[in-house]
Amino acid sequence: MALRTIRTDDDPCLYKVCKPVEKFDGRLSDLIDDMFETMNAADGAGLAAPQVGILRRVVVIDVGEGRVELVNPRILLSEGCQGGYEGCLSFPGQSGYVERADHIIVEGLDRKGEKHTYDTKDFFARAVQHELDHLDGVVYLTKKTDPPDGFDDEPHEEENMG
Ligand code: NI
Repeated sequence: MALRTIRTDDDPCLYKVCKPVEKFDGRLSDLIDDMFETMNAADGAGLAAPQVGILRRVVVIDVGEGRVELVNPRILLSEGCQGGYEGCLSFPGQSGYVERADHIIVEGLDRKGEKHTYDTKDFFARAVQHELDHLDGVVYLTKKTDPPDGFDDEPHEEENMG
């Protein structure tokens, strides 16, 4: 395993639509292992492959409910609404208020090509949406808005996504 360099700011990799994974081989497995290691070292809750310069549809997430790897993920259900502050490992030192769905069911493949479905809420659902956006070249900064009046939640370090 190895740490990979996290792309930041104006790096073109962060603004491209990623291609589906077609080969479930050792290279994919190494990529996923490296992404988990890189995410943990950076203290993030998730990481998407384009953030390490690989334009393929792979994300890893760990919000404290176990390691989740999603290859070629697809959202099956999206409902409700939640708002909160997000940060991104690709935009260090910044954060912004973003509204997202608060219930997401997502399906994806693991490194072996086996299908898994995750029923996610709250912060987990937020992380799924943040990471999947990265696969389409969408960064949270384009979605941030002013918080509603009276919303006094401050950004927390644990709310750093990937
Ligand atoms: Ni991010």
